Amino acid sequence: QSGYITLDTGFKNTGATTSSITFLDGEQGILKYRGYPIEQLAEKASFIEVAYLLIYGELPTQAQIDDFQYKISHQTLLHEDMKKFFDAFPHNAHPMGQLCSLVSSLSAFSPESLNPNPTKEETNLAVIKLLAKMPTIVSWIYKGSLGAPFIYPQHKLKYVNNFMHMTFGRLTEEVIIDPVVIDALDKLLILHADHEQNCSTSTVRMVGSSGSNLYASVSAGISALWGPLHGGANQAVIEMLERIKNDGGDTEKWINKAKDKDDDFRLMGFGHRVYKNFDPRAKIIKRACDNVLEKLGINDPILEIAKKLEEAALHDPYFVERKLYPNVDFYSGIIYRALGFPTEMFTVLFALGRLPGWISQWLELRDNKEPIGRPRQIYTGETRREYVEISQRG
Ligand code: SDX
Repeated sequence: QSGYITLDTGFKNTGATTSSITFLDGEQGILKYRGYPIEQLAEKASFIEVAYLLIYGELPTQAQIDDFQYKISHQTLLHEDMKKFFDAFPHNAHPMGQLCSLVSSLSAFSPESLNPNPTKEETNLAVIKLLAKMPTIVSWIYKGSLGAPFIYPQHKLKYVNNFMHMTFGRLTEEVIIDPVVIDALDKLLILHADHEQNCSTSTVRMVGSSGSNLYASVSAGISALWGPLHGGANQAVIEMLERIKNDGGDTEKWINKAKDKDDDFRLMGFGHRVYKNFDPRAKIIKRACDNVLEKLGINDPILEIAKKLEEAALHDPYFVERKLYPNVDFYSGIIYRALGFPTEMFTVLFALGRLPGWISQWLELRDNKEPIGRPRQIYTGETRREYVEISQRG
């Protein structure tokens, strides 16, 4: 092939596409969805409203959001055959492993999603089905981990309320979910909804670029999000903070461990490929953390450790030089824990929030008729070698 290949491992300085969905400014710490600042959306909007904004490009009118919620609430059931998949997993199978399998399996019950040239209506049906069924899948994964009976969705409940009803509801009694908990989760889902071309979104786009269906593309994104360097960090942060607490809470010791090149320990929840300033989401989540724990009357000792760690790192030359600040994952786990979720469910909650972002980016790629993704490489292997019969090999 003529021409030069520019090597950019990890795509640190490569634009993979054009997009009108999310804007990030890493130096200024700015994040906007379809032009709306994340601070305003987190304060004023609902998650389902933000999902509509990301997917269809505009803030919905009352009629549009009612229709959107109505369509979703009538697609929340899973095909009863899917229960066999939940039963097949060992009860301690990681929720992210279950989620990527179960989301991919949705194509088996949605023939319209396999049409290589779907109509707009068929595509929109697949979008609605995925938005509607993901909360049911996530809550049933949680119930399965407890050996508890599945709680079915209810048409009359709004998106986040329905998810919490299925997750913390019981067959034998009415469980009232604290509105503080609903509001906190709604805000967290908004803050996770999209983030331009991060690892998992780039994966969704790459898989979608080959013509793969929406469910398979999002399932691939879930796999990418699972990694501890990406969405899996929110689980790793809590495990790290627990480790520090159980080790006596000596944050200086752990800061020095994170700086030690011979030690592969990293301060999970710190640093970001794009934000070289505070992650705007982390600022909002940190405030929400104080607010939620106070309202719920929870005193979680690891919150104090997190704040001590943050304070120490923000004044340590190693972190300052490398512009390492708390990212979205640093405080989110503390809130998820306060809302009653086990640590293993945290990254699945990240996926639930990111779903509308993945969907909107997949649709944009298809609408823009982008070519199949196929990067090149710099070859560093052997030049030419002749085949040697096995009897002649030393
Ligand atoms: C998410 O991309 C997105 O938008 C992702 C996300 C989204 O919404 O989709 O924002 C969600 O994934 C947030 C990030 C969650 N991950 C973590 O918290 C894991 C810990 N963070 C790091 O592993 C790291 O900061 C990354 C993965 C987030 C970014 O990695 P980069 O950009 O490849 O940076 P790097 O690994 O090359 O680090 C640069 C330097 C290195 O030191 P030097 O070799 O220059 O001496 O900074 C150091 C690193 O050793 N460093 C850290 C560190 N992060 C980077 N040192 C200690 N602790 C850390 N957390």
